[in-house]
Amino acid sequence: MLMNKRTFLKTASLATIAIIFNPLAACVSSKTTHGGSAAANKNGLFVLKSPFTLPSLQYDFAALAPNIDKQTMEIHHGKHHQGYVDKLNKAIEGTNFANQNLLEIMENVSEKEAAVRNNGGGHYNHSLFWESLSPKNQVITGNLKTAIEKDFGSYEAFQKAFTDEAKGVFGSGWAWLCKANDGKLFITSTPNQDNPLMTKLAEKIGTPLLGLDVWEHAYYLNYQNKRAEYIENFYKIINWEKIEERFNA
Ligand SMILES: [Fe+2]
Repeated sequence: MLMNKRTFLKTASLATIAIIFNPLAACVSSKTTHGGSAAANKNGLFVLKSPFTLPSLQYDFAALAPNIDKQTMEIHHGKHHQGYVDKLNKAIEGTNFANQNLLEIMENVSEKEAAVRNNGGGHYNHSLFWESLSPKNQVITGNLKTAIEKDFGSYEAFQKAFTDEAKGVFGSGWAWLCKANDGKLFITSTPNQDNPLMTKLAEKIGTPLLGLDVWEHAYYLNYQNKRAEYIENFYKIINWEKIEERFNA
């Protein structure tokens, strides 16, 4: 169907709003890898395609301080994430990826497409990350709490396993809490900007519920080489309400 400029702008605006409010929803797979179905597309968020845009934060840059400082947030969001968005849009121009939503890009990208892998992953991971954080000190409750206790033994055991995974990332990467096809939770990590949605690249495949950015750009201004301290403080600013919403989706 041909799309005139006005329709295109309207669609693009709706898509932008959709990803701002729920970037993860855009990534609920229609493929069997994640246990979804075509029906999962009914929420309309799968129209999210290029040009991708930088999602706004739902809190002030300074709101997460002292756990994550204002300047780190400004640079991380405004420079690093913006850079991934810009480079992703450029990398997919004129390729098959230009017609794919962000989830499809994650699932289809291979090691041959380094720019799409790095910048597409960068855009997805950071979109998820911003929404995983909250200035409110939240505790884990509900179905997610039950699942964590079932799959890890206790919240403390989960926290220890996640901390160990995050500390163990060599160089730049991410630690993840994911939901597998069978609904079980698991912890994993990925190098650089890879993530567990990348079926052709990740060791363990699943739907990310919570991701922790352990690139130095995420903490170095405030913590320098003390990654362990950054990880420890991360637990004070997790948006568990959002993580449970993803778990229940
Ligand atoms: Fe980052």
